[in-house]
Amino acid sequence: MSDTSDDVWEVMATARTIRRFTDEPVDDATLTRCLEAASWAPSGANMQARRFIVLRSPEVRAVVAAAAAEALKVIEPVYGMSRPGPDDDSRVARTNRATYEIHDRAGELTSVLFTQQRFSSASDLLLGGSIFPAVQNFVLAARALGLGTCLTSWASYGGEAMLREAVGVPDDWMLAGHVVVGWPRGHHGPVRRKPLASVVYTDRWP
Ligand SMILES: Cc1cc2nc3c(=O)[nH]c(=O)nc-3n(C[C@H](O)[C@H](O)[C@H](O)COP(=O)(O)O)c2cc1C
Repeated sequence: MSDTSDDVWEVMATARTIRRFTDEPVDDATLTRCLEAASWAPSGANMQARRFIVLRSPEVRAVVAAAAAEALKVIEPVYGMSRPGPDDDSRVARTNRATYEIHDRAGELTSVLFTQQRFSSASDLLLGGSIFPAVQNFVLAARALGLGTCLTSWASYGGEAMLREAVGVPDDWMLAGHVVVGWPRGHHGPVRRKPLASVVYTDRWP
């Protein structure tokens, strides 16, 4: 599996979550390509009422770290997660170890906040349709260029108010997504998903 790929099928099939990163910073040119891909995503009436905020100053990263800690408090009991012992090499332990690592190192990482303007004429889910394709374009572009990403819930839960305040997001803008991006320590790999037949119906809900 190559680190970079221009094959859209390989990119989609191997853009699994990366939670462990090298210390190498993401250069502006590479990040800009990912943000440009995000900007190519569709939106209702092509309004593009969305903004992408790159979070990388030490001050804002400190807030990201606090938001990650808040999210971890919620995630741990929901996923029944605890810090694995050093000798545990099971798949669950490896995933949990990586999950703790990204939350513990949140203040060292670059991330992007995806925001969408709220309109009273549309439900939040409908508005989500105008921002989540941008998030996915970003994720896929990053994978194509060899970067790793992790979608996070850090801009939800207790972290939302902190990030709003630190970035100065206006009240009528929703924090729709928060994605960590960096150079992977380790490799891209295949996503694991349910078989297609179990998620596709034809004409009627069975
Ligand atoms: C809306 C959303 C929120 C997520 N929040 C977190 C998070 O806070 N922390 C984390 O480590 N992973 C988070 N993830 C990553 C998921 O756990 C991951 O995408 C999922 O387990 C599938 O794994 P894969 O991408 O490796 O196939 C989130 C993913 C989504 C879509």
